[in-house]
Amino acid sequence: MGLPCIIHKTRIFLLFLVLIISAMLWSLLTHISFHRRPSNFHFRQPVDLVQSPKERDCSTGESCQGSGTAMKTVLLWTTFFSEKNYLPSTDKMQCAERRCLLTSDRRVLNQSDALVFHWADHLFNDIPTTRLSHQRWILFVLESPHNTGSLSHFNRLINWTATYRLDSDIVTPYGHVQKTINRSATLEPVPRDHASNKTKMVVWFVSNCETVSNREGYVSELKQHVAVDIYGLCGRESCKPRMSKACYNDVAKEYRFYLSFENSICQDYVTEKFFHILQTDMVPVVFGGGNYSTLAPPKSFINALEFASPKHLADYLIYLSRNATDYNSYFWWKQTHAMGGYHWVCELCRKLHDPTEGPSSYKDIDKWWKTQASCKSWNKAKGLLSV
Ligand SMILES: *[C@@H]1O[C@H](CO)[C@@H](O)[C@H](O)[C@H]1NC(C)=O
Ligand SMILES: *[C@@H]1O[C@H](CO)[C@@H](O)[C@H](O)[C@H]1NC(C)=O
Ligand SMILES: *[C@@H]1O[C@H](CO)[C@@H](O)[C@H](O)[C@H]1NC(C)=O
Ligand SMILES: *[C@@H]1O[C@H](CO)[C@@H](O)[C@H](O)[C@H]1NC(C)=O
Ligand SMILES: *[C@@H]1O[C@H](CO)[C@@H](O)[C@H](O)[C@H]1NC(C)=O
Ligand SMILES: *[C@@H]1O[C@H](CO)[C@@H](O)[C@H](O)[C@H]1NC(C)=O
Repeated sequence: MGLPCIIHKTRIFLLFLVLIISAMLWSLLTHISFHRRPSNFHFRQPVDLVQSPKERDCSTGESCQGSGTAMKTVLLWTTFFSEKNYLPSTDKMQCAERRCLLTSDRRVLNQSDALVFHWADHLFNDIPTTRLSHQRWILFVLESPHNTGSLSHFNRLINWTATYRLDSDIVTPYGHVQKTINRSATLEPVPRDHASNKTKMVVWFVSNCETVSNREGYVSELKQHVAVDIYGLCGRESCKPRMSKACYNDVAKEYRFYLSFENSICQDYVTEKFFHILQTDMVPVVFGGGNYSTLAPPKSFINALEFASPKHLADYLIYLSRNATDYNSYFWWKQTHAMGGYHWVCELCRKLHDPTEGPSSYKDIDKWWKTQASCKSWNKAKGLLSV
């Protein structure tokens, strides 16, 4: 064996090593982002609506001027749970201000007016090394502060926040209810009897059994006073495909109430667990840190935390199960309201065009994100406690 042969073999060996390590890294990364994706994420945005970089190549700088300097370019710097062009276009959403180009092509970095970093997909240190002074860097977060850890590596980098928090620069709620007809919601009851055919009381789909909010502690008390059937990893019932629309529709035929209980009680944290159930034939019983009356019409939900105890809530649910008129009044809102009517891409585009938006940035992002979220936990003896 001559020297060249040994060098050749070493090269092949090194090549193999690199391949194996990349494969391991890749599976690790995809595993992590898969794990972070909420298990029943119903409000995924459409994928195919973003102008592809091939149609509009801004990498030369020249071609982007074509549609006028009034066009703003938004660069989706990260994916969204591994999805590339996750934001629907301003045309698709019929925004009032539509002059925004969305792209995930990093070659347009130097022509971009805004960059969006989705927290769950963002890899530490994957940050552009240059930035234009007018460029807005936007941090997009959908998890509760309990599930993000510290965001301090974003200090002094982020200009705008895009989260479900109502005091975010751009509010990105999990759902939105709008008025559809110009008349008072309480004028007339719906003719349909939502109580007929229903024989069961409370249902809950849940697979995260131990939470900071201690919703499980609340439910175990509630179960002493009213029947609660639990589907998923934390209960005895099961339905396949897990968390599917078919499962929700099936239980909605039998059950009167659904527990839209959040895993965290933090300011404004209200997820698809609530908005999805509003679209079914069950009344959501909510438990969370949102100001629900600003998110949905009166008598569209029952707020557990407004009752003195789980027993008081159970008594009320049992009362409603015996009075169909009162139970049905929780569906009257559907005559005047419907889901939809807001998408944050419109607000993003509007703000980018708003000349009164001055420069701003977050010096201490954890103070805003964690401290000001005033997260709480439920305690049987003491009620809500700060955590
Ligand atoms: C952006 O501009 C900076 C400095 O002007 C340059 O170093 C960098 O390579 C450019 N980046 C891209 C993606 O064109
Ligand atoms: C709704 O009706 C009221 C009274 O009839 C009227 O004053 C108001 O302008 C209407 N609003 C819309 C949005 O049509
Ligand atoms: C109750 O069940 C009957 C028979 O299956 C059906 O015809 C009726 O539409 C159901 N009522 C409601 C309110 O779903
Ligand atoms: C909820 O929102 C309403 C209407 O904006 C407001 O009056 C109320 O004070 C808010 N409640 C809490 C607890 O923030
Ligand atoms: C149900 O409640 C209403 C008042 O909300 C009352 O008028 C009605 O008599 C009650 N019906 C029954 C069967 O108790
Ligand atoms: C964005 O934040 C950076 C870093 O804090 C700052 O230098 C820049 O002026 C801000 N730009 C805008 C448009 O707010």
